[in-house]
Amino acid sequence: MQYSLLATVVCATIALPAMAADVTYRNDIAPLFKAQCADCHSSEAKAPTLQEYKLDQKKYDKEKVGPRTDTYENLVMLIAYPDSGALMRRLDDGTGKFAGGKPGNMYKNLGSTDAERVKNLATVKAWLGEGAWNLNRWNQKGDVPGITKEEQAKLILKY
Ligand code: HEC
Repeated sequence: MQYSLLATVVCATIALPAMAADVTYRNDIAPLFKAQCADCHSSEAKAPTLQEYKLDQKKYDKEKVGPRTDTYENLVMLIAYPDSGALMRRLDDGTGKFAGGKPGNMYKNLGSTDAERVKNLATVKAWLGEGAWNLNRWNQKGDVPGITKEEQAKLILKY
């Protein structure tokens, strides 16, 4: 009786949607990005660092590789600085503020089915932290204001 109760509690806990506190880079994000992004964004794929990419973007676009997303540090550069919000703009499903109703061009790479993409996007959003999914750049661009310090402070990005 006690054992089955324990089993119920354990299963109920596992079934809960991903919460910011339990999503970590090591357990969730690294394996997810290895599976979904490494073909074009890893050192194995001869992808450049963000800094190298920015120096010679045309060459890398022709080679169909984007900046590396295969380490924690590489991701932080695409989330916080210097390419603030790049990861969010590319992975947004089109519902984000300033997305203009259009999914980012990397959203499709989050999974092979709608259900998988929805689930994986929720995991990435939970990893960033509640309210941290902002598409703003460091500086204002057109009508889109630059990221605020308050918005940045919401990033958790647990390792
Ligand atoms: C089939 C190859 C391919 C896959 C798979 C892929 N990408 Fe990309 N990605 C690219 C290429 C090529 C570019 C550069 C061209 C462009 O901007 O669209 C790019 C650009 C990006 C950028 C913009 C970087 C910048 O500094 O402007 C981000 C962020 C990104 N990808 C994230 C991801 C993530 C996260 C995944 C996995 C969920 C992923 N991509 C999967 C090919 C891919």
